[in-house]
Amino acid sequence: AEEEAAAAVESVAGESSGKTGGDRPISTILIVIAMQTEALPLVAKFGLIEDADGSTYHGTYKGLRIDLVWPGKDIILGVDSVGTVSSALLTFASIQALKPDLIINAGTAGGFKVFDLYGIGSRQTFSTPNLLKEVNLKVGRLSTGNSLDMSPQDEASILANDATIKDMEGAAVAYVADLLSVPAIFVKAVTDIVDGDKPTAEEFMQNLIAVTAALDQAVTEVVDFINDDWEPNK
Ligand code: ADE
Repeated sequence: AEEEAAAAVESVAGESSGKTGGDRPISTILIVIAMQTEALPLVAKFGLIEDADGSTYHGTYKGLRIDLVWPGKDIILGVDSVGTVSSALLTFASIQALKPDLIINAGTAGGFKVFDLYGIGSRQTFSTPNLLKEVNLKVGRLSTGNSLDMSPQDEASILANDATIKDMEGAAVAYVADLLSVPAIFVKAVTDIVDGDKPTAEEFMQNLIAVTAALDQAVTEVVDFINDDWEPNK
């Protein structure tokens, strides 16, 4: 059964001082990403080194320690292990091992053409005005479920929660991040229009590479913002 859960799209705490919700400066970032295709441009961009297991990467980018993790391939089917179960497990294990100051869940998502309709009445759970001024991203509510296509039940939950984008990991990462009190932000790039005319899977595959470049750009801008704004010992 599908379960759609609304998650805040972004919720970086204490952004203006570069500090997390507690009093910790942000010096380590964990990037959680579902697909290898989405991960590799960021690995190159941040100059990360592959660890022995082949699905975790680490490095230092402009003084920030960055760990990037993806769940790897399904051992039977050989496809990327997308979805909520893998991302929750991965996030849990990675927080335990790495104790990051901040999590960025980056990935692709489906969008809706009737943005205004979906957006009306939505409440922003956490405000990050400085980050948004700098990086020029839209803010919206993310709905997460284990299906690329939208079932009627999903649609009802998406409408009820005023969601404007739809992915397969965000709410799971948000759940675990909350459980372990690590602030998390969600950066999603739209590959397909869920309520558009084209079949979702086809549109997703068609746009994946180009949209991944946009995702790479957005995540870099977010990390640069966090880095520039971070003032140690203040
Ligand atoms: N990732 C990219 N497009 C998506 C969609 N339509 N639903 C869920 N996850 C997605």
